[in-house]
Amino acid sequence: MNPRSIGVFDSGLGGLTAVRQLRRLMPSENIIYFGDTARVPYGNRSRETLLQYARQDMRFLSGFDLKAVVIACGTISANCLEELRRESAAPVTGVVEPAVERAAASGKVGLIATRASVGSGAYERAFRRLDPALEVRALACPLFVPLVEEGRCRPGDVVIETVAREYLAPLREAGVDTLVLGCTHYPLLQEVI
Ligand code: DGL
Repeated sequence: MNPRSIGVFDSGLGGLTAVRQLRRLMPSENIIYFGDTARVPYGNRSRETLLQYARQDMRFLSGFDLKAVVIACGTISANCLEELRRESAAPVTGVVEPAVERAAASGKVGLIATRASVGSGAYERAFRRLDPALEVRALACPLFVPLVEEGRCRPGDVVIETVAREYLAPLREAGVDTLVLGCTHYPLLQEVI
């Protein structure tokens, strides 16, 4: 095994949901995690700002001897993956394609993500590449990340439950059969959702 580390970053703590899966799949890998909690949330920022933040995050991680980088942030993956891949010496993986591949076998997909992820159209493009016939309903949930960062993510919390009910109503009405959590903070809301 190559003993060098895998670098993982996100705007905050959400990317730790990806680290949990990496540790499950590759328990002997050394992982270096960076969460940009000083500037979270990323999800309402312009593409220019996202690129600037992403480059700074990558620069911080490049101070370590890395064999690969995982962008554990749907927002950066959706908006900046190509640039970061071009500029990085280590291979870079995002989270859009893996999430889409898991859901592509379904018929009517709902996608929830940040405003910048939904606005980029990256998830829909990825779905169309896999199956042009797939019906995808995409919805931004901008309050989810700040609430998760505040620890308001447990069932029974009236704030998160109210916000979730309102956000998700259109997808319930649309009768989607699969829901893609297109933001790495959202698995922490899985029970509430
Ligand atoms: N975990 C990030 C994502 O996957 C959250 C983005 C944000 O900070 O709004 O999109």
